[in-house]
Amino acid sequence: MSSIDAGPADGVPVRGARVLKAGGIEIAVFRTGDGRLFALRDRCPHREGPLSQGLVHGNCVTCPLHEWVIDLTTGEAVGPDEGRTDRFDVWEEGGRLRLRLPDE
Ligand code: FES
Repeated sequence: MSSIDAGPADGVPVRGARVLKAGGIEIAVFRTGDGRLFALRDRCPHREGPLSQGLVHGNCVTCPLHEWVIDLTTGEAVGPDEGRTDRFDVWEEGGRLRLRLPDE
């Protein structure tokens, strides 16, 4: 596992997201209302909707397309829906975002 610099930490708004491309995929970095950071592949497990454009609430994001709710801590759809998107470790270090990607 290696980590990369993913830009300025203040580029991710509270209850919002920022998308970056890393390792050939689009990754959405989210910040919850209480300031925690999470990163998921920017594709809903339902029909690949852009989760980065969803509504962030609590530990979850609601997909903008058909309103599936995805748990930011696991990438899993919250019941009754079933599915999962990839999740990545993300943290802040010296005002920058660090993102851990699986090794190729
Ligand atoms: S694509 Fe996300 S709920 Fe359908």
